[in-house]
Amino acid sequence: MTPEGADRLRDASCGRLWACGRLKRRLVRARGAPIFPDDTAMEPLVSDLALRPNVPFDLAPLARLLVAADDLALVNPNAKHPFDPLEWREKWLNEADDASFYLVDATGREVGFFALRVGIGPEVRHLVYVFVEAAARGGAGAQLAALAEQAARDLGAISVTLKVELDNEPALRVYEAAGYEELGRRNGMATMRRDWG
Ligand SMILES: CC(C)(COP(=O)(O)OP(=O)(O)OC[C@H]1O[C@@H](n2cnc3c(N)ncnc32)[C@H](O)[C@@H]1OP(=O)(O)O)[C@@H](O)C(=O)NCCC(=O)NCCS
Repeated sequence: MTPEGADRLRDASCGRLWACGRLKRRLVRARGAPIFPDDTAMEPLVSDLALRPNVPFDLAPLARLLVAADDLALVNPNAKHPFDPLEWREKWLNEADDASFYLVDATGREVGFFALRVGIGPEVRHLVYVFVEAAARGGAGAQLAALAEQAARDLGAISVTLKVELDNEPALRVYEAAGYEELGRRNGMATMRRDWG
């Protein structure tokens, strides 16, 4: 969006629209700065989302996030729909060292999720089940990637791997921008890795 386009969108918008995170991020990205006169106190985007370890283990927020079949399929194509907490506990997040996290907004509400499973080797974590609800998208990817990397570092990892469907453009862009390198492609999926060790 051009700065002029941002101005037009701003002029055409109302307070309720401004509450939409996606619009807000698009406008700020277009202008590089807050553009509403009363918005000078808006926090930097990087502080929009925070991380909350999923401890005590609770899948109720994830069940709420993954109601739609297509969302669930993007996050875990092998999982049953509707979301089955027992299946996730016993099959998809069943290893003792699995670590999972909620992304929360400024009010503490869960708007996203990811997990770091043990990868190949003790210092490798595998990033899985990445999700941000639609209303919080539009700039959340970089925050998610940074928070996931910090969480992996805190777990003692020096490398994160992941798999992503080749037709999932938003996710691919997020991972590439965060410094993930593609290791190979198979069955419509790319395997990617980011090292910092
Ligand atoms: C993947 C996900 C977490 C990214 O969060 P997000 O807030 O949408 O990401 P961002 O807006 O920061 O970045 C997405 C990028 O893809 C681009 N994009 C968005 N939709 C696109 C589309 N349909 N085609 C091509 N590019 C697209 C955006 O412009 C942005 O690129 P830019 O930063 O270069 O402008 C979120 O989209 C999501 O939860 N998707 C559903 C679940 C999923 O796919 N999980 C990943 C499984 S590996």
